[in-house]
Amino acid sequence: MAIPILAKVSIMEISPPIRKLVMVGACYVDTILTVPHFPQEDNKLRARRLERRRGGNVANTLEVLQQLPAVDGRELNLFLLCVLPAKTSPGTKLVRDSLAEKVNTQHCIYREDHTEPASSYIIKADDTGSRTIVNYNELPETKLEEFQEKVMAISAQSPGRMWFHFEGREVDTSVACMRWLKKQYPDVLLSTEVEKPNREGLEMMASEADVVFYSKSWADAKGYRSAEELLKTEAQSLAKASFLFCTWGADGATVLRRQDNIYASSKARVPEDFRVVDSVGAGDTFIAGALHAILNQLDSGDGVAASALRAGNHLAVRKIMQEGFAGLS
Ligand code: FRU
Repeated sequence: MAIPILAKVSIMEISPPIRKLVMVGACYVDTILTVPHFPQEDNKLRARRLERRRGGNVANTLEVLQQLPAVDGRELNLFLLCVLPAKTSPGTKLVRDSLAEKVNTQHCIYREDHTEPASSYIIKADDTGSRTIVNYNELPETKLEEFQEKVMAISAQSPGRMWFHFEGREVDTSVACMRWLKKQYPDVLLSTEVEKPNREGLEMMASEADVVFYSKSWADAKGYRSAEELLKTEAQSLAKASFLFCTWGADGATVLRRQDNIYASSKARVPEDFRVVDSVGAGDTFIAGALHAILNQLDSGDGVAASALRAGNHLAVRKIMQEGFAGLS
């Protein structure tokens, strides 16, 4: 594939600093079965372990973010904006309890006529480290008007600039929300993830964002052979994004900084005893590390983008070596 010359994009302005991060997406209850190998269709297999925990991309990211240290004594105010079942339902309690440390869940949208949360059934195969996810969600998605009402409440709660991260979900509504945010709050910054290959139109969300996170599964589905090839090609249609990240499984991740079209790749140093224990949410953990570095403008000498890449990789590797998300700070 011929790779076109890239236009330069001026870098997003993070001064004055941003202290409010709102994560927009869905929460799941994950039921995880650990099996010795992936089962054969129409067969029986005994699992080694069963675990039930709160999942969902943005909730996973928030669970990690709430553990990361404040930089220069300035805390990030973390908000979850998602649809949940009835306020008193066990699923809602599980979500709120898991994020109780530091995340504000007060502005979630509660569907009082639903008792069941969105659910994922996950098969984790010990021999390959793969995780296969089947999910079910009957909660009606957030509408633009509901989103606007919640954002106005978050903005009124305390002054200051906001950053919104969008999980790639219903594209039309998400794009409308992103455009409305930029109009209503001109200094807002936006990030999004382009993760699920079966969700059409995520490119439209990417073109509204200041930072974009691509997954390897999306890259594979689009026929890209490397993270760099994806970033170079996708960047052509992104007029706004300052940083584009692409994770590449065991090969680490790559970032493209649009200001000067510099690429950086990084593979986390893995300890000798490295073993895949739990890769569910590894990408969500990468995003937590990267967002924490960007929002706090952490720079270990080669720029914020490269530092964010390393921070994301480092945390993702640690996460893969353990069950769940606790104790990653
Ligand atoms: C992992 C995850 C799970 C959840 C599923 C939703 O990234 O967020 O926790 O069940 O993906 O698609």
